[in-house]
Amino acid sequence: MKLGVVGGAGLLGSTSAFLAGMKGYLEEIKLLDVKENLVKNHVMDMAQAIYSSSDTKVTFAQYKDLSDCGAILITASLPERKVANRLEYLWDNMNIIKPVCESIRENCPHQPVIINATNPVDIFNYIIWKELGWDRKKIVGFNGNDTYRLKWAASIVTGKPFSDIDGFAIGEHGNGQINLYDKMTCGGEPLGLTGDEIGKIESITANFFSEMNALNSGRTSGWTSAVNIESIIEAVAKDSGRVLECSAVLEGEYGLKDVSLGIPVAVGAEGIKEYRLPELTEDQAQRLEKVSEAMKEIIREARSA
Ligand SMILES: NC(=O)c1ccc[n+]([C@@H]2O[C@H](COP(=O)([O-])OP(=O)(O)OC[C@H]3O[C@@H](n4cnc5c(N)ncnc54)[C@H](O)[C@@H]3O)[C@@H](O)[C@H]2O)c1
Repeated sequence: MKLGVVGGAGLLGSTSAFLAGMKGYLEEIKLLDVKENLVKNHVMDMAQAIYSSSDTKVTFAQYKDLSDCGAILITASLPERKVANRLEYLWDNMNIIKPVCESIRENCPHQPVIINATNPVDIFNYIIWKELGWDRKKIVGFNGNDTYRLKWAASIVTGKPFSDIDGFAIGEHGNGQINLYDKMTCGGEPLGLTGDEIGKIESITANFFSEMNALNSGRTSGWTSAVNIESIIEAVAKDSGRVLECSAVLEGEYGLKDVSLGIPVAVGAEGIKEYRLPELTEDQAQRLEKVSEAMKEIIREARSA
């Protein structure tokens, strides 16, 4: 599969491209960015580096070159700035995402899978779906860091190995993240968290973004995101059906529609293969509905602006 990266000179675009390229399952990675000199610099450097472990080619691209891509990763955005909430990036990135969609629609009539990471990712995932007008299963939003950090925090708090812990966060990539503590497992057995442990995990996962953002470094989580974005790229390239937390446009799942939120989905060559909906407690379902209403309101505002 060939992968296009829109925003390929940036942190997430370049780190994800590098990781996928090093693993060797892609035929070609095409980097596109408005910063043409910087993206060409990445191409010259990355193309050489990747040959150390694979034959994946890395090339500079314009939109017309993306027509034979099986997937396009969108990470285009304005530079990071200090914010209280990822939703503040909405108006920064609105003027970027709409023209990006227009260019993809015009140049990619075969409708590749879109992997979208641009924040606020759930809102843009829905907007991208509307702008492109393709099957909702083709639009896969990147929310996997939430589930990843849930497992990481659970490992810190319980002392159990990260690799043995499983579970999912769902909902918004932001304050409306819902950690499904009751479904978490360790080595296939229920993790059985105490109330105290849950409180600590909740605090770590809820505060991670604000702590990192307060550094005001202008840098996002480029390494963790690369690891989790690459999992989606691999699932599409290999048509693996791996179940990952992604932002998905909902059309009746959990009784919700007209919104995109993080849920576990099986990912393959055509995007979302299956919606894998864990059974929710009443409290979790109510929280998800509340998050959905809040997201819908923002989508309405964004689309009418
Ligand atoms: N979903 C998640 O879990 C998650 C995690 C981390 C970051 N993010 C988001 O991902 C996005 C990218 O983050 P980053 O750290 O890579 O940012 P970055 O500033 O390093 O990179 C963004 C790149 O987009 C390019 N760009 C801007 N406008 C463009 C356009 N119209 N066409 C093509 N390229 C364009 C910029 O030149 C830049 O190279 C941000 O919105 C960030 O908030 C999401």
